[in-house]
Amino acid sequence: MIYLDHHAASPLLDSVESGMNDVRAVAWANPSSPHAAGRASRSLFETARRRVAEVIGAASADMILTSGGTEACNLALRGLIPAGARIVTSAIEHPAIRDTLASIPDLSIQEIPITGAELPSPDAVAALLDPESAGDSWLVLSSVNHETGSILPIHEYAEAVTKAGGRVIVDATQALGKIPVSIAGVHALALASHKIGGPAGAGALYVDREQSLQAQATGGMQERGRRAGTPDVVGVHGFGIACLSVEERVADMTRLADLRDTLEAFLRESGATINGEEHPRVATVVNASIPGWRGDILIAALDVEGLCASSGAACSSGKSEPSPVLTALYPEETWRAESALRLSLGPTTSQSDVNQTIEILHRVLGRKT
Ligand SMILES: Cc1ncc(COP(=O)(O)O)c(C=O)c1O
Repeated sequence: MIYLDHHAASPLLDSVESGMNDVRAVAWANPSSPHAAGRASRSLFETARRRVAEVIGAASADMILTSGGTEACNLALRGLIPAGARIVTSAIEHPAIRDTLASIPDLSIQEIPITGAELPSPDAVAALLDPESAGDSWLVLSSVNHETGSILPIHEYAEAVTKAGGRVIVDATQALGKIPVSIAGVHALALASHKIGGPAGAGALYVDREQSLQAQATGGMQERGRRAGTPDVVGVHGFGIACLSVEERVADMTRLADLRDTLEAFLRESGATINGEEHPRVATVVNASIPGWRGDILIAALDVEGLCASSGAACSSGKSEPSPVLTALYPEETWRAESALRLSLGPTTSQSDVNQTIEILHRVLGRKT
């Protein structure tokens, strides 16, 4: 099997798997219990929190450990943004942001025009804030797009927005491990473990301590009252270990860019159009639209040949709706969203994987010609 779906989940690192196994005999205990068993579990939990905090330059006290990226995004949006606020966001956000914002009543939502053209300037983004009530304005964006790998200049945007009196929430779920991620200049930042070789079901939210955060899961004083419930210490421990390999992952990007370029060159020669290439992009993803193919049918054909790929966000797979990200980027070329193939790479991806992928694509795409 060739696995090219690292943007959905990147395989568990060996260090994470063995580290989680090593602590199972201790980490079952409730870390809020004051006795020896609870204290042992608490110590593992706090070590993990410190590791997650360090990887983005935050203080441990400002990190809330969650069940993943979706919960972190929900907590930031529902817990920080006051009723009636003005939101500046984009149409290419992950559903964890897009659908959550849409479900919060009384927000006035403005979309930054992110299309298959140059990204908007920081001044253009800040200009969308409401000058009358900038204090209630929030920029909500992902720093790396899950489908195309587009990198948004989030710190430049944050500087301009903060200068205009607004605040900034960043979904860095796809950025961690691909580009350096920092909390500099932002008010909240969401992360997920399974994008960096940690287990699924663990994540984190950084929240600037000056902000007032309303807990969403209530019923206990865990996480200093910001997220109630007994946590999964084994999972969070795995996330902490995965954070130790983030620098190594980022250093691997030059190698992955070469593999990505090889795949893209083959796809172009086969008549595909590359999506997101107008933007600065991370090295881990090829998003191509292939004329004459429906994305879901192509993915199924590739699966039969032993290639795990995606036609968009993993959360949307199983549904055959065209990708909303590509629809927003290329509104005049709706075929792109219907015919998309996403191949996403990670530390386990080798030259041999890429060679075999090209052979499989050659065989499968050739069937239609
Ligand atoms: C950009 C982005 N945000 C949020 C999420 C949701 O994270 P999780 O799957 O940990 O809930 C994902 C996962 O695909 C993502 O890519």
